[in-house]
Amino acid sequence: MNTEFSSTSTTTLAARLRDETRDLHAAIEQGVDVMRPDLSQERYRNLLQRFYGFYAPLELRLEGVAGINVACPDFASRKKVFLLTRDLIALGLTTDAINSLPRCSELPDLANAAQALGCLYVTEGATLGGAIISRHVAATLRFATDSGSAFFSSYGEQRGAMWKVLTDSLNTLPVAQQTEVVVAARQTFIFFTTWLDQGRRI
Ligand code: HEM
Repeated sequence: MNTEFSSTSTTTLAARLRDETRDLHAAIEQGVDVMRPDLSQERYRNLLQRFYGFYAPLELRLEGVAGINVACPDFASRKKVFLLTRDLIALGLTTDAINSLPRCSELPDLANAAQALGCLYVTEGATLGGAIISRHVAATLRFATDSGSAFFSSYGEQRGAMWKVLTDSLNTLPVAQQTEVVVAARQTFIFFTTWLDQGRRI
């Protein structure tokens, strides 16, 4: 699918992130392979399991970053692991089965708030494509947004507003921190893509 990203001034950090991760977005979008017309419940469940295996340890790490709630004041409302859990239960997994899912150990460096924001750029950006994915899941598998496709339906009508709040925060960061944010975003894309690829080979 062609991603025509929303436009912002080329001088902002958000615009820089979009430009400097465009190649990696294309790669992960291709790897996710969820938009196929013959999407099966099994394939969708496997995908959510891999998302869980990346987001669960990542969210824990993000929670521990000093200054995260200053750099991203609404960080608490951006947590998504509970939505993945809800979807996996709707797909038939028990809580024990979810707790036993493989978890990614190769996570991006998250030593400071700038790196955390770069990582959040990626995980929050996934909600934009999520709008398209949740519509496709509803059409092919008949899952409702609150049960079965809660994760990809993150924020519902508030999706655009949540994205704007994040990009506004990014755009107020001091120039000296920008490169660190971009590096963290690229690293997050790469580690997540690798993790998803490994899941397909299991
Ligand atoms: C089939 C899977 C995917 C599709 C169809 C898709 C599609 C899209 C679309 C249409 C946008 C632009 C939305 C807008 O401008 O309003 C977007 C943005 C974005 N997506 Fe995806 N996406 C997918 C997967 C992912 C994944 C797995 C990630 C990361 C884990 C991701 C990260 C991002 C980011 C960071 C942006 C924001 C780009 C910007 O700076 O404007 N996407 N995606």
